[in-house]
Amino acid sequence: MTSETSERAVTVENLSVQFNDFYAVKNVNFSVKRGEIFGFLGANGAGKTTTIRVLCGLIRPTSGQVTVGGIQFDNETDEMIIKRKVGYMSQKFTLYNDLTIEENLSFIASLRNLDAKTYLKRQTFILDFISFQRPLNSFVRDLPGGIKQQVSLAASILHDPEIVFLDEPTAGVTPAMRARFWALIQDLAKLKKTVFVTTHYMDEAEHCEKIALMKTGEIVALDTPDNLKKSIFPKQLYEFNPKESISYSKIESLKNHPEFDFFEPFGLRFHAEFKNTIEAEKLKQDLNLDFEIKVITPSMEDVFIKTVEGKN
Ligand SMILES: Nc1ncnc2c1ncn2[C@@H]1O[C@H](COP(=O)(O)OP(=O)(O)OP(=O)(O)O)[C@@H](O)[C@H]1O
Ligand SMILES: [Mg+2]
Repeated sequence: MTSETSERAVTVENLSVQFNDFYAVKNVNFSVKRGEIFGFLGANGAGKTTTIRVLCGLIRPTSGQVTVGGIQFDNETDEMIIKRKVGYMSQKFTLYNDLTIEENLSFIASLRNLDAKTYLKRQTFILDFISFQRPLNSFVRDLPGGIKQQVSLAASILHDPEIVFLDEPTAGVTPAMRARFWALIQDLAKLKKTVFVTTHYMDEAEHCEKIALMKTGEIVALDTPDNLKKSIFPKQLYEFNPKESISYSKIESLKNHPEFDFFEPFGLRFHAEFKNTIEAEKLKQDLNLDFEIKVITPSMEDVFIKTVEGKN
């Protein structure tokens, strides 16, 4: 193994996953370094969960090569070897609501074949890691959403995996709890764990060291957040602030206006990239619209909209 390959927690080469005649994942290539926080972004149905399920050994790919924690999968690979390497917090809440926290954790420990001593040691470490303050005999159903997600995270790392797959861990969670959850993700990375995370919140994507953007089964961009912002927005990005409210049909016509390379609503304002050097006064006349305009720095939300949701 070269030092470069040994630094990689995940390598995916030409991965495709087909359900009947539909490709959920099409010829995908990427690698994740050990200890990296890797963000996997894309619209609903882009193929993120399907890719994660392959990497956790839950479904077999139609074609392609996958290596996780140094193990290259093939049809003979023992699932248990893969499952020891990875923790998986699924997009769907999988703890038992009608069991207590302690009962859920000890059930998972038994599935993971942890002996009693190791389980207790890990339980203490993990509850301390998430700063869990509640009694362990609380029922999961009685926990607030954000705390439930933290307990799910605890459950997914109980067996001390090298690589943790978190599939939309903060969906439906309040902003303060999302921030707290991301502090935990960063703590995991400090413990040298590789974190592979999906999210629809672009403020969260800014915390990732590397990002893959996926669209209809394919990776359309792959880089650090800063490099993505530079490469996806090589020209200046402007905030376009009309002095009057503009109708939906006017917005649609502006999106397709030849002056704009990119024109998308952001709240009541718009983000715009121009084909040519902007001449504001002339444009006001052409569009029959008064507006203020200023240069802004692109965000991951701009990158996402332009690559995944935009017209190109
Ligand atoms: N077992 C399956 N059988 C048939 N189609 C499937 C199966 N699993 C997923 N799909 C389809 O594959 C596509 C990708 O689904 P996937 O769940 O991977 O997307 P996703 O990026 O995780 O979306 P979301 O953001 O909504 O979670 C979707 O069109 C989905 O309906
Ligand atoms: Mg999904």
